[in-house]
Amino acid sequence: MADLSTRFTGIPFVNPFLLASAPPTESESNIERAFEAGWGGVVTKTIGLHPVVNVAGPRTKFLRTDPATGRTSMAKRPEAALMASWNWELISDKSLDWWMPRIERLKRNWPDRVLVASIMAGSGDDKEFEHWQTLARGVQEAGADAIELNFSCPHMDRVDMGSNVGKDPVLCSTSTMAVRQVAKVPVWVKLTPATANIAEEAEATFLGGASAIVSSNTFPALPLVDPDSLEFEINVDGYVSAGGLGGPAILPLSLAKMAEMTKAFPDREFSGIGGISGWAQALDYFLLGCGTVQVATAAMLDHAIGPNVIRDLTEGMAAFLDRHADRGWTSLDDFRGLRRDRIVAQGDIRRPSGSDYHGGHEEEAEGYAPVPASA
Ligand SMILES: Cc1cc2nc3c(=O)[nH]c(=O)nc-3n(C[C@H](O)[C@H](O)[C@H](O)COP(=O)(O)O)c2cc1C
Repeated sequence: MADLSTRFTGIPFVNPFLLASAPPTESESNIERAFEAGWGGVVTKTIGLHPVVNVAGPRTKFLRTDPATGRTSMAKRPEAALMASWNWELISDKSLDWWMPRIERLKRNWPDRVLVASIMAGSGDDKEFEHWQTLARGVQEAGADAIELNFSCPHMDRVDMGSNVGKDPVLCSTSTMAVRQVAKVPVWVKLTPATANIAEEAEATFLGGASAIVSSNTFPALPLVDPDSLEFEINVDGYVSAGGLGGPAILPLSLAKMAEMTKAFPDREFSGIGGISGWAQALDYFLLGCGTVQVATAAMLDHAIGPNVIRDLTEGMAAFLDRHADRGWTSLDDFRGLRRDRIVAQGDIRRPSGSDYHGGHEEEAEGYAPVPASA
């Protein structure tokens, strides 16, 4: 089989496929099973210092679309295809003290697999920056190969936490710097896609000292209303708050966010997430310039840790390399970023011969097409 090993932020990987921070990586036994199944790495469920109490009801459900009617719903129907996951789950409800010995054991048992610890604190004052540092010191002492900063959880009420950090370039920079001051291992930063120009937050994060950027976390979303009961399909006492959309629906959205960053920073490192269930979607991210990819939703639906998903990723990607052996491709490096430069401004796309287009900047009537004489 073709060699899928790679280096990302200086860390050797047996393959570039990780389980993303989510339920598949919330326990030692799951992570153990993930490594047995062949995942090159895992990112732990996000670890914090503040108390975590989840909603009094289901935290995650899956949206499926019926091909005959086009109806999308969380109701299970035999013919319906997966469209997305929707969740309002918070970070790990286990403490740093609970996680540390587990990280230590996992690393001892699986030295050739990469264990990334996801962490989250607030960013409002110096005390919060100390919290970031406490978490970073703890997980690296336990043996984590890298630290992933969660600036992307879409359902935090606090204005200085989760995706609210990822929406603020100053907080992105200062929080990354706080961790960098104590980190001896690479610092990855997971940015929120819920921002106007993600390249700005990426720039601030790199200035703060990040080794890589990870994207996307789930996109802010609401569940649908059941047309019979008029209740949201997932709710507690009739109430709902904005949650996060993951899975197939976000693949094109996440690719667009990733392209904004890889085009702006072609020499930096990126880990792609969003809508990956097999090698073909992983390829999309590699062709934009990503060095690793991560999976959450597809793994949750495949025996909780994705044994079939990782098989498809490794076997499919190896077969892809073999098919292109005539181009001299032997590793991921040979085609990484190959399609990044094909993404251009609308005005740079060829028009039918003879017609002119200036991207909406017409000389005579700025921004408007000429009015036909008969109008
Ligand atoms: C139920 C659930 C819980 C999640 N928890 C976390 C988390 O604790 N930290 C984090 O960084 N991302 C979390 N995520 C986001 C995933 O890591 C991932 O970025 C997102 O689901 C998109 O990937 P996918 O399309 O493969 O699901 C969670 C996702 C889901 C569905």
